Amino acid sequence: MKIQAAITAVGGYVPKDILTNFDLEKMVDTTDEWIRARTGIHERHILEKGKASSDMAAEAVKIMLEKRGISPLDIDVIILGTVTGDYIFPATANVLADKIGAKNAWGFDVSAACSGFLFSLETGSRFIQSGAYKKVVVIGVDKMSAIIDYTDRNTCIIFGDGAGCVLLEPNEEGYGICDSILKVDGSGREWLYQPAGGSLLPPSEETIRNKQHFVHQEGKTVFKFAVTNMADVSYEIMQRNNLTADDVNWLVPHQANLRIIDATAERMGLDKSKVLVNIHRYGNTTSGTLPLCLFDFEKQFKKGDNLIFSTFGGGFTWGSIYVKWAYDPA
Ligand code: UT7
Repeated sequence: MKIQAAITAVGGYVPKDILTNFDLEKMVDTTDEWIRARTGIHERHILEKGKASSDMAAEAVKIMLEKRGISPLDIDVIILGTVTGDYIFPATANVLADKIGAKNAWGFDVSAACSGFLFSLETGSRFIQSGAYKKVVVIGVDKMSAIIDYTDRNTCIIFGDGAGCVLLEPNEEGYGICDSILKVDGSGREWLYQPAGGSLLPPSEETIRNKQHFVHQEGKTVFKFAVTNMADVSYEIMQRNNLTADDVNWLVPHQANLRIIDATAERMGLDKSKVLVNIHRYGNTTSGTLPLCLFDFEKQFKKGDNLIFSTFGGGFTWGSIYVKWAYDPA
């Protein structure tokens, strides 16, 4: 049988400090009721000053390695999805390798906003399939609080900080990543992006004065594209793999807005009991949402379960991956 990349362990981490909707009521013109009704979010976690994305990623990976019973020296490759790396360069994968002692690994970052983990997972899967690597760590992490304007009620209510990760290993029994449909449409970039800090608009007094280093989002437009595209691609991957709603055990959706998740599940014909949701606890952690879902709900998965991962994010980027789960809960 052909080599597939199986997820053999998961890890996750959110910082201890919590920012509730009630805290936000004191910071901007909003209410707990509005935020819950329009997004499903109750609270989010915020990383303390002086710490970075690599610190959250390191905690998540340590938990995962311990669960799998392997050493950081066993890791071949680290692929890390983020838009809030510790630095513009070097890559956060490098910093992480140093922090956890992954001395035999090489790696790199993937920039795909909310699809960062999904795009990294597909990349890692191909590395395993090639036969060249046996242990690939795939991470999704974002410290969104570093680029959010806490006077802008359009964005500050949605985002939070967090990290999650999976270990990929070869499997020749049909378990693992079975199919993927991934898309980008750069013409949507101005609806959700960080305008300054790159080579187009390097940091200047003017960019700081204009608040161009913060996330800029036209929520309504992004919402429309997200609802349509995330639902379409999730339905498409079911059809392509001859999966009915009964065959799908779990939908692992990007956690940006509960209404987008509900629309996707509805299009797939899935009962709510199969849809993994933790947005109320973490908000939108960008690259962190999918692996944090896996981490929170891992105990419910059984070997052979069919999982559909789906995302939509800035860029625009979106997609869906079909995974046959490879192990029973410990
Ligand atoms: O993860 C990457 C992709 N990102 C997403 O998928 C996010 C997609 N967008 C969304 O989730 C939603 O658009 C938001 C949650 C950002 C906004 O929800 P919405 O239902 O689209 O609200 P809206 O922007 O259409 O605003 C509706 C009303 C407006 O008032 P009027 O004009 O009807 O009087 C806004 O001014 O709600 C007002 N509003 C708020 N009120 C209280 C906007 N933000 C807030 C707020 N608190 N935080």
